[in-house]
Amino acid sequence: MSLFKIFRCDPEQNVPARYQGYRMETEEGETVLSALVRLREEQDPSLAFRASCRSGICGSDACRINGRAGLPCKAQVSEHLQDGVVVLEPLRGFPVIRDLVVDQTRFWEKLRQVKPWLIPGDPDPEKERLMRLVQEDFDGLSHASDCIFCAACYAECPMAGDDKPYLGPAALLKAYRFAVDPRDAGGEERRAALEGPGGLWRCHLAFRCTEVCPKEISPAAAIGHLKNEAARRHLGLGAKGPRELRANGTLEAVAEGAGKDGD
Ligand code: FES
Repeated sequence: MSLFKIFRCDPEQNVPARYQGYRMETEEGETVLSALVRLREEQDPSLAFRASCRSGICGSDACRINGRAGLPCKAQVSEHLQDGVVVLEPLRGFPVIRDLVVDQTRFWEKLRQVKPWLIPGDPDPEKERLMRLVQEDFDGLSHASDCIFCAACYAECPMAGDDKPYLGPAALLKAYRFAVDPRDAGGEERRAALEGPGGLWRCHLAFRCTEVCPKEISPAAAIGHLKNEAARRHLGLGAKGPRELRANGTLEAVAEGAGKDGD
């Protein structure tokens, strides 16, 4: 028998926050999301949570599982039982709408600030923009494109969430995805957001985003690359092209270049 301790709260009905315990038998290999669905069907139809694909694709069910942001559809109950208990709470840093459901409005607003779409140098709307068939070009952005916007990274980042101005790891990862796209020419248009008060320099590289990402992406590495690019520009070293931006050793290049200038 497993015990699920679930955060319950309904601000609209003035129901105060509390933890409610539910006991149920779970099967070998059963996911936390499957258990949540059964709990709602069998014990408490008032339990509120989001879910859609049940396969780690839509990102809608993200919440905290034993204090760490994750996807219940990818988490097996047996692997998360601690002394027979699994604790489920809403993501940190968001207003709670009800139980495990949070209001992600600010998360999406911040994402829009980085203009997360292709900004071509040639604005001809009829023109087809083919990706060159260079595997290295594609690899650089395909992994960053795997982000499912579950907001786990944003919730765990000590600099993001609540009323903080920081754009957060998911938005900056998206900016990186276009910075390394050889078809994109939107660097200037995104600069105000990336280098403004809520931009790159708010990141202290705590790496929590990378630790919790359910798609095993490293937003921290992407942010590091964008910082290096910004530093190069400020040091007068010139911007790197998309391929060079992806290359390892960018930090060293900045340090070497700064040393050569001798000032
Ligand atoms: S339900 Fe879609 S990612 Fe979990």
